[in-house]
Amino acid sequence: MIDLSQHPNSARIMDILRERNALWRTDILSVDQFTPEVLDQVFRLSDAMRDIVEENGGMELLKNRVMAAVFYEPSPRTSASFTGAMGRLGGSWIPIRQGVRFSSVSKGESLGDTLRTLEQYADAIVLRHPEKGSVQTGAGATACPVINAGDGIGEHPTQCLLDLYTIYKEKGRLDGLTVTMVGDLLYGRTVHSLTRVLKDYDIRFRFVSPENLRLPMGQMQQLRDRGKDVREMSDVADAMEVTDVLYVTRVQRERFPDATQYEAVRDSYKITPEGLKAAKNDMAILHPLPRVNEIPETVDADPRAAYFRQARNGLYTRMALLAMVLCK
Ligand code: NCD
Repeated sequence: MIDLSQHPNSARIMDILRERNALWRTDILSVDQFTPEVLDQVFRLSDAMRDIVEENGGMELLKNRVMAAVFYEPSPRTSASFTGAMGRLGGSWIPIRQGVRFSSVSKGESLGDTLRTLEQYADAIVLRHPEKGSVQTGAGATACPVINAGDGIGEHPTQCLLDLYTIYKEKGRLDGLTVTMVGDLLYGRTVHSLTRVLKDYDIRFRFVSPENLRLPMGQMQQLRDRGKDVREMSDVADAMEVTDVLYVTRVQRERFPDATQYEAVRDSYKITPEGLKAAKNDMAILHPLPRVNEIPETVDADPRAAYFRQARNGLYTRMALLAMVLCK
């Protein structure tokens, strides 16, 4: 990759990084860190990253920097976009997929040792782990920045960044929208993270799920305490006409205590071309992926289907995030 320090887009990136950077050398653990100022900076940086990727493939901003990519749960998209982001910025990564010891992780023992070892080799650690709260615990054991790439049914802050950026790119704003979340709202951490940020914006919420997969009560209460316009329903058709952003998720099979409970709800909702006839022409359909049966491929040609553009945005937002965490 050629050094593009003279290129106008690299100068643009360097200028944004020279602004006050609240994320430099910090752990990225929760969406609570994404203030409107941080989001504005990440979005501008993501735009610049998109331009530099489209024009030149990338730049050598993170040359000689190393990221440890520790994934204790399967993650084709998140791990690929993090390592892709690092590669396009000229850096490298250490992939780790084995070694979790569930019994002691909640006490921070073996995970802490793993991370303390990895920080001897890497400048940042990206960690996905099946246990809620584990990434926070692990981050406490290291001085090196740790980025939460999903902790069980807890949070998924970097997915949230790309979801917010996609809403912003598709709709031109984060305010004054009706956002309908469909699917497994109980176990879906992407829904939890997105709801948590959007509660601070002028958003009307519609939640569509089977009865036993509703949004956790604590989150619902937070929305009600803020006086949000919130409705829960079981049929997506009831929200279709008013929706600006349709955020669809799969049923999280791996989180169910037993398989029969999963089988009972796995096909309980589906977005079809027929159902979309009632929707606004400029509605955006998002999905964090992977999808199972909830959006058939026949929907993909619809210009409102934004989920692959959303996946692409994951590359730009993760390039932006890594740049902010690793560069000053
Ligand atoms: C999501 C996740 O892992 O939480 N996917 C992702 O990060 N791309 C959603 C899911 O697994 O359903």
